[in-house]
Amino acid sequence: MTDSQSTSPSLENLLHETRAFPPSPEFAAQANAQASMYDEAATDRVEFWARQARELVTWKTPFTQTLDWSEAPVAKWFADGTLNAAYNAVDRHVEAGLGDRVAIHFEGEPGDTRTVTYADLQREVSRAANALAALGVTAGDRVVIYLPMLVESVVAMLACARLGAAHSVVFGGFSADALRSRISDAGAKLVITADGGYRRGAPSALKPAVDEAIAPKDGEPATTVEHVVVVRRTEQDVAWTEGRDVWWHDAVEAADTFHEPAWVDAEHPLFILYTSGTTGKPKGILHTTGGYLTQTAFTHKNVFDLKAESDVYWCTADIGWVTGHSYIVYGPLLNGATQVIYEGTPDTPHRGRWWEIVQKYGVSIFYTAPTAIRACMKWGEEIPAEFDLSSLRVLGSVGEPINPEAWMWYRRVIGSDRTPIVDTWWQTETGAIMISPLPGVTAAKPGSAQVPLPGIAATVVDDEARPVPDGGGGYLVLAEPWPSMLRGIWGDLQRFKDTYWSRFPGIYFAGDGAKKDDDGDIWLLGRVDDVMNVSGHRLSTTEIESALVSNELVAEAAVVGAADEVSGQAVVAFVILRGEHADQASTDEGSARIEKTLRDHVAKEIGPIAKPKRILVVAELPKTRSGKIMRRLLRDVAENREVGDATTLADSSVMNLIQTGLAKPTEDEN
Ligand code: WTA
Repeated sequence: MTDSQSTSPSLENLLHETRAFPPSPEFAAQANAQASMYDEAATDRVEFWARQARELVTWKTPFTQTLDWSEAPVAKWFADGTLNAAYNAVDRHVEAGLGDRVAIHFEGEPGDTRTVTYADLQREVSRAANALAALGVTAGDRVVIYLPMLVESVVAMLACARLGAAHSVVFGGFSADALRSRISDAGAKLVITADGGYRRGAPSALKPAVDEAIAPKDGEPATTVEHVVVVRRTEQDVAWTEGRDVWWHDAVEAADTFHEPAWVDAEHPLFILYTSGTTGKPKGILHTTGGYLTQTAFTHKNVFDLKAESDVYWCTADIGWVTGHSYIVYGPLLNGATQVIYEGTPDTPHRGRWWEIVQKYGVSIFYTAPTAIRACMKWGEEIPAEFDLSSLRVLGSVGEPINPEAWMWYRRVIGSDRTPIVDTWWQTETGAIMISPLPGVTAAKPGSAQVPLPGIAATVVDDEARPVPDGGGGYLVLAEPWPSMLRGIWGDLQRFKDTYWSRFPGIYFAGDGAKKDDDGDIWLLGRVDDVMNVSGHRLSTTEIESALVSNELVAEAAVVGAADEVSGQAVVAFVILRGEHADQASTDEGSARIEKTLRDHVAKEIGPIAKPKRILVVAELPKTRSGKIMRRLLRDVAENREVGDATTLADSSVMNLIQTGLAKPTEDEN
């Protein structure tokens, strides 16, 4: 049924001979999570969340209403309460006497380090908020953040939140074009960027992409951006537009260290984060304040068993993705955690860099993606074995299904055969973790995200929206509103309704296939729509197809996500060249040149992360009589499988043509 079943080849076996790992009595005795939470939440779900909101969040004005679902599917949670996200993440810890606690151990890729306490963070965020206010940012504005993984990235997000301005972080791997469309869609007033960052041992540039993104283009006017604030990280020369561009250090260092937070309503926008959908245009997922903070704090505390006074937490995600928002910035800081932030890649300058960092800081909770675990498996277990990983006590996984083999390796090699593993299912749209084992409570099953968290109504339904029995498969849905749910797609209420609420009226359709085993545990099986999951990153097939056909060489394109041992899925593109270029692909050299041109073109249109791993030049594409491309057949070709049932093809000889015309795999240079 779905694309990524093949990443869990032994699923069927596992369902029969499941080996579960019950929590150790010692872990269970000290765990934050308790089995009774499920009963509490089941008794009164809404009241359960109200209790979490009162306990985990500090309100300026306490709320009296919990959930208002009268304008479904746009929820209101805690609507008459007021609060500030940055105050909750920083100031209240300082007020509680924890100013000297380390908030961030920063580790730059070149090896430079910086230690930031909660008191430091309060000063920095307040200054940055004053600096942004002086540049005209006020409550209700949008600010785009396009930065590498730096302390300033966290400070910038919190400074926006402090002012009541919504941040929209754009991953630094996106191109100028992708950045431009996000800036325009959000109507951003200001962009925060850097000269560049360190990646794979060399400085890479960021500011040129911003300059290009906000300039007039193809007759389209310049964007709404009034100022660009630039963090200096790499000492690279940058082009400068006087009056528009401002150095972060000039603006922030000159600013006052006191700033009164803007007290906003619980439903005030906190951020917009763009994510790929089934159509070409990315969706601006809107999150608001009170409910989002409640659920990120709750899940961070209970799913990772955070003990703020003693743990050192590390999430390897980038702040450009939702995992960085919820589990680097808001969840951990709300809980007063000490965390590691690392700028670079896991294999620079050597393949043990992550484990060296774990050893150096005594990391006790570690959260990463299956793709990274599979890469480490490939590099060999002797690499982590060189480091002392005994501080680790909880391991997490996110972003894609984790195959049981990777799960077992993660536990044995990284977790010394003793740490609980939490496989956490959630999405940009859900804002926080929705399905996961609870460490200390759940007996963990390799490969399964298992159980909806307390207060979450996740279930698997069939085509008619009927819940499937244990042992059955279907679609993952969320049957009741939850505090950190998206409040819409920025500027497009209808698309929000159509995308998530129309497949099964009144309930949220996640876009994932899922299965329940005989114990009722949930196994995620990958996307059922045209969204691919490459290294835990969401990419849209349509978006990449549009990028390809915007090149003059290409007449038609079809993109599929093909199973890949390390990245889960890999982008494979089939293209038909325009008549006048068709003979260019007749030599090996010519087709290699075309592949390179097109891969670079996709990188320019979207970003290097979207570059197809393989591009196959074909004479025709398999289509049904109604003209729909049969991606299923292309996936068979891309995965070197026997091509499945092709009887509905308009022209059944097309598949022979494609298979005989297969090009060599392209070298992956991402
Ligand atoms: C997939 C990332 C299986 C899923 C937090 C979802 C997962 C999409 C898991 C959201 C998991 C995420 N097991 N699949 N533990 N976690 N996914 O918005 O297909 O970048 O719909 O959010 O990733 O990706 P997004």
